[in-house]
Amino acid sequence: MYRRQETAITTDRLWLRDFHLSDWPAVHEYACDPEVSRFMEWGPNTPLDSRRFVERATSLSYLDPRVDFELAICNKLDDSLIGAVGLHIDDMANREGWLGYCLRRDQWGHGYATEAAYNLLHYGFERLHLRRVYATAAPDNQASINILQKIGMQHEGTLKSHKLIRGTWRDTELFAILEHEFVPPRRFF
Ligand SMILES: CC(C)(COP(=O)(O)OP(=O)(O)OC[C@H]1O[C@@H](n2cnc3c(N)ncnc32)[C@H](O)[C@@H]1OP(=O)(O)O)[C@@H](O)C(=O)NCCC(=O)NCCS
Repeated sequence: MYRRQETAITTDRLWLRDFHLSDWPAVHEYACDPEVSRFMEWGPNTPLDSRRFVERATSLSYLDPRVDFELAICNKLDDSLIGAVGLHIDDMANREGWLGYCLRRDQWGHGYATEAAYNLLHYGFERLHLRRVYATAAPDNQASINILQKIGMQHEGTLKSHKLIRGTWRDTELFAILEHEFVPPRRFF
């Protein structure tokens, strides 16, 4: 069997690591919450949806070259899985990737998503040598927009009527950051 190159990123309070198949119940705990998936194209998840998400994230982590870095966000204190953060290279030739994240509801408001997103972005520029990383957010997902601005992304525009989410066409705010614009850790905190 192909052996994957494990990805693990340690931050001040978190551990970002590859998913294991046994993680699906912890994922399901947040992915079945309608508040968590309110702005997402997926969800609320059934147990099968959550199991498939973890299976997919795990199997994509074995690809070589690896282009999908969907990582579990774990609290370093008790090792509990509290969410997911992903960096996905969708254009190798132009070294471009996109970033996304979500967190269990009882973990919101502690800066964890900012910490996870910032550190995975750093990994993307430093280790994966990306040139540009973008992210999208629903116009009324202010918490996510705050995160994207805090990690240094700039608003590039509004994609009109971009996504059909649970029967409604929604606009999407597009944010991005270039390699040379990224402020590395020592200067960030
Ligand atoms: C979006 C999400 C990841 C935020 O996680 P978090 O760990 O609470 O985020 P942080 O604490 O790092 O930062 C959130 C920022 O938004 C602000 N914020 C939080 N909730 C808010 C709200 N309802 N309205 C406005 N601002 C809000 C916080 O004050 C903070 O900004 P500040 O540091 O300038 O005060 C979390 O709410 C979530 O998982 N939501 C569901 C999934 C999702 O929407 N993912 C993003 C898809 S684009």
